[in-house]
Amino acid sequence: MKNYVSASILGADITHLADECKRLEENNVDMLHFDVMDGCFVDNISFGLPVLNALNKCTDIFMDVHLMICNPLKYIGEFVKAGSDMITFHVESDSNTEETISEIKKSGIRAGIAVKPATPVETIYKYLDMVDMVLIMTVEPGFGGQGFIPETLEKIKTLKEYITEKNINIDIQVDGGINDKTAVLVKEAGANILVSGSYLFGAASMSEAVSLLK
Ligand code: DX5
Ligand code: ZN
Repeated sequence: MKNYVSASILGADITHLADECKRLEENNVDMLHFDVMDGCFVDNISFGLPVLNALNKCTDIFMDVHLMICNPLKYIGEFVKAGSDMITFHVESDSNTEETISEIKKSGIRAGIAVKPATPVETIYKYLDMVDMVLIMTVEPGFGGQGFIPETLEKIKTLKEYITEKNINIDIQVDGGINDKTAVLVKEAGANILVSGSYLFGAASMSEAVSLLK
């Protein structure tokens, strides 16, 4: 399976987001990981619809939207209109999971479902035939720049084995604490879309960081 790198906007220079998008395009980054936090699902508030709208006017990069919000279902329509190419929401959110997936899929974009570190990956098995991607959080959602939680590797392996056995064709994304070292471990375990914020934007050479991650 092909590996992809998705750059977490939390690591970018927020005063120059348009330039940061250009830099991602020039350095072979596949997606922009747009982290949305509402101060309810997580203890932090980040970016929302107007910023996504504005970014879509200045870049063609694939918009990988990660909703860390209490009621994703209510906002799917607006996030689609604002230019999302894929929307991932949490199984731990308050919204009905099937309905939220259907709402995303009926708009013609890709759907992902996310699990926090403490949520068993088996919880989402029943939704696997409806989604395009599973996001296994490798840190507690809420903040960039945290350390990778090694126990999450087992979840990636378990999911990879399960989808291989059942012949289910979906991507496995990981998010949090991904750098050149942890990238090796998560890919070995079965992940193929690597989100990176602080490592990628902090690297002396972004293109070298991208090739190391891939
Ligand atoms: C955490 C976010 C992530 C994270 C990635 O809640 O979902 O996207 O900030 O940033 P790094 O790579 O710095 O851990
Ligand atoms: Zn994220």
